[in-house]
Amino acid sequence: MNATQEKLKLKLAQALVAAFGAEYTGVDPILVTASNPKFGDFQANVALSLSKKLGMQARVIASAIVEKLDVSDICKPPEIAGPGFINLRLQTSYLESQLNAIKTDSRLGVPKTKNSQKEIVDFSSPNIAKEMHVGHLRSTIIGDCIARILEFHGHEVLRLNHVGDWGTQFGMLITYLREVYPEALTTANALDIGDLVTFYRQAKQRFDADETFQETARQEVVRLQAGVEDTLHAWKLLCEQSRREFQVIYDLLNVNLIERGESFYNPFLPAVVEDLEKTGLLEENQGAKCVFLDGFTNREGEPLPLIIQKSDGGYNYATTDLACLRYRIEKDQAKRIIYVTDAGQANHFTQFMQLAKKANWIPDDVELVHVPFGLVLGDNRKKFKTRSGDTVRLRDLLDEAVSRTRADLEARLIEEGREETEEFIKNVAEVVGISAVKYADLSQNRTSNYVFSYDKMLALKGNTAPYMLYAYVRTQGISREGNIDFENLGTDTKILLKEDAELTLAKDLLQLDEVISEVEQDLLPNRLCDYLYNLSDKFNKFYENCPVLKSEEPTRTSRLMLCDLTAKTLKLGLDLLGIKVLERM
Ligand code: ARG
Repeated sequence: MNATQEKLKLKLAQALVAAFGAEYTGVDPILVTASNPKFGDFQANVALSLSKKLGMQARVIASAIVEKLDVSDICKPPEIAGPGFINLRLQTSYLESQLNAIKTDSRLGVPKTKNSQKEIVDFSSPNIAKEMHVGHLRSTIIGDCIARILEFHGHEVLRLNHVGDWGTQFGMLITYLREVYPEALTTANALDIGDLVTFYRQAKQRFDADETFQETARQEVVRLQAGVEDTLHAWKLLCEQSRREFQVIYDLLNVNLIERGESFYNPFLPAVVEDLEKTGLLEENQGAKCVFLDGFTNREGEPLPLIIQKSDGGYNYATTDLACLRYRIEKDQAKRIIYVTDAGQANHFTQFMQLAKKANWIPDDVELVHVPFGLVLGDNRKKFKTRSGDTVRLRDLLDEAVSRTRADLEARLIEEGREETEEFIKNVAEVVGISAVKYADLSQNRTSNYVFSYDKMLALKGNTAPYMLYAYVRTQGISREGNIDFENLGTDTKILLKEDAELTLAKDLLQLDEVISEVEQDLLPNRLCDYLYNLSDKFNKFYENCPVLKSEEPTRTSRLMLCDLTAKTLKLGLDLLGIKVLERM
């Protein structure tokens, strides 16, 4: 709800009390956006909901409210429609004054939240020495967008990368590392073992084939847990190597994260078990310490245990998440913790969150949210894979998006008879290619699966990054064509709204605030994409119907200001999606 709606809601609530008495204080006027612009901008439905209670016809109630309602500074005279809706239509002068107020504001009229708090976004979180797959790409893109929006809204955000950097697989990896790179363990230098995924596969082959190797690997796990120095050194080398590979992707995507992997919480794991023991929730089951929670059963319908500590003393993914949760609440003082992972992990999150609640570890003012997302599918509607059936390397995927963009661009340049420098082509291809991948992901409702298609995401038409970037370029083209400095349009001239296309555009421009609040609530970035897509559509209609540079003053400057405000809104909105704009493309 934006400031205008807040004001109207308040005035309606007051009118209701004035009409029917103090007992109606606090009754929600049920103000919603009008279902059809024909009926105005907003409608209040409270009269219908009170009809029974008051024993009166809703239309009669509506007129009693309207009689006491003074919204003349914001709206045209209210109208009563149908069975008793109160329809409100914004005054043009009100819209003009709102636009004139935000046009010089760097936040474009979006105030910082009054309820700023510490929020953690746990996202990306790939696993060391394993493939960073498209699922991690989704997490990275969605998590970054959520973090950007929360930061912009004025929250203190901790962007945490919960990398999987611990576990028994390191026994195998370290043993193999000692075998093939014995020198690596005695030098302090960073190691380059090439592709870690291949390394992992080879280590696994050795492990599966050789029992002595397996035994050594088991001993390495014990040594790692005991913190034996050279084993720890080997583990660090492996983490370093992965980290460098992940960083290439983060750089390409322009995403910042603070790494705080699973290993960070090792010192706090025993306390989780101890404290759970005290709550009486822990049960011994075949030597393992576990908890039975409501609603979790296996295929046979038997209760499914959540294992906290295995019979060999080792801990699980969930134990680490419990320790991590306590740390985030107690040490980080987080008030909302957002986990961005694939929907396949939903059970894991429900389980450990339910347990933490039962154990009384979650204060009332702390909110935990799992933000699940669907799968990325290939053309065949199965999990996205390479033609040979392997997982797609993210590096290759992003490179491919960039090189396809480049090919499209080069073809377009020939078609348009344009000549551009290599630097220009390279930059446009990179920005558009990466943006296309991001936008294709963000513009889908994250909970659904989507089909990955370069052709679709790179199309210049439709709800795509190239289309959005092009809309921005168009606005900048106007300033170039007319030799106009948008920053210097003069302070005396004001935005005036005459044509329908101007009014519709104006209303959209004033909705950014509301959209951002919505995304902050629902954590659905596709809402922001939809908004920006609609906005560019409204802008195109305006641009087709309302001449800008050829108009007389003061219309000309007013329209230029609308162009500028649209450009700024697109730029800000795209930035919140993690997408950079281009001046030309
Ligand atoms: N490393 C996990 C994976 O690759 C994701 C971790 C998500 N965060 C968490 N706190 N569990 O699936």
